[in-house]
Amino acid sequence: MNHRIFHIKSELEIINNTAKILDSIELPTKKFPNGEFFVSIPVHVRNQSCYLIAEITPENIFHVCLTVDTLKRSCADKVTLISPYLPYSRQDRRVDIRTPMSAKVLANILQTSGVDHIITVDVHALQIECFYEIPFDNLQMFRPLYNRIVKENCLDKSKVALVSPDAGASKKVGHIATSMGTDFAMFHKQRFSDTEVQSILLGNIKGKHCIILDDIVSTGSTMLEARKVLIENGALSVFLGCSHMLSSDEAIHNKLENLYYLNTVQNENQKSRSVDISSYLANTIYQDINGESISSMFE
Ligand code: R5P
Repeated sequence: MNHRIFHIKSELEIINNTAKILDSIELPTKKFPNGEFFVSIPVHVRNQSCYLIAEITPENIFHVCLTVDTLKRSCADKVTLISPYLPYSRQDRRVDIRTPMSAKVLANILQTSGVDHIITVDVHALQIECFYEIPFDNLQMFRPLYNRIVKENCLDKSKVALVSPDAGASKKVGHIATSMGTDFAMFHKQRFSDTEVQSILLGNIKGKHCIILDDIVSTGSTMLEARKVLIENGALSVFLGCSHMLSSDEAIHNKLENLYYLNTVQNENQKSRSVDISSYLANTIYQDINGESISSMFE
């Protein structure tokens, strides 16, 4: 089956780089004067397998859906949506009475539009896959983050401890620690408000270079509290790694010293610490086109 690769025009480095590596067709964003999106595909896609590389944001979800709908109505055989970050993923359960299950609503909308396969990066909770009735590939990028931090800071691996900032990330971080043969510690985290958290350390990190890995940094309170407690408990140094840096606030970036983040979300600050994963995304699409394993790329 032939394939086509499209991308929705974006400011995001990861979209532009991946699109360039793959020689993809750019779909511009056009709007009517009243703000409604207008989509048209410049080439025929009949019976083709289409890859759509797009940044899904709270503002453009409908644009992405219209693009998918256009591809399906133009007789594309299959539409694979590649979105480096899935918004609303922290709302993966009803937190209270009369609240929505937003991650499930997003899954419904995307599937109803015609998406046949999703590829994303470090989804907030692995069980979000259960909201989808279609194949869902989650690229786990903690290892490239870990490698970059260790290499750039010339850390002696025998003195490194990997740290999970909460129970949610502990399985993923623990897995990397086991495969890298490093020490592991985790936090029991309690959140009192958007910016107030209290973390209790479980494990011994005295005399270690600690690397805290998390999927999301938003207000930075989780990372800041964890770093404070690690220093109080005798860490030699503390490095922070996250997949999705949701804040562009300079004050937050300045407080989060030694933070490394993937370039999955638009971000204006401290580009030097951002880790470009475009080549991983491009290789994932190559592997998929060629019917090869994706997980083997991360082993
Ligand atoms: C929570 O479960 C996530 O993995 C992150 O720890 C959280 O979203 C970080 O948010 P903030 O930076 O606002 O503490």
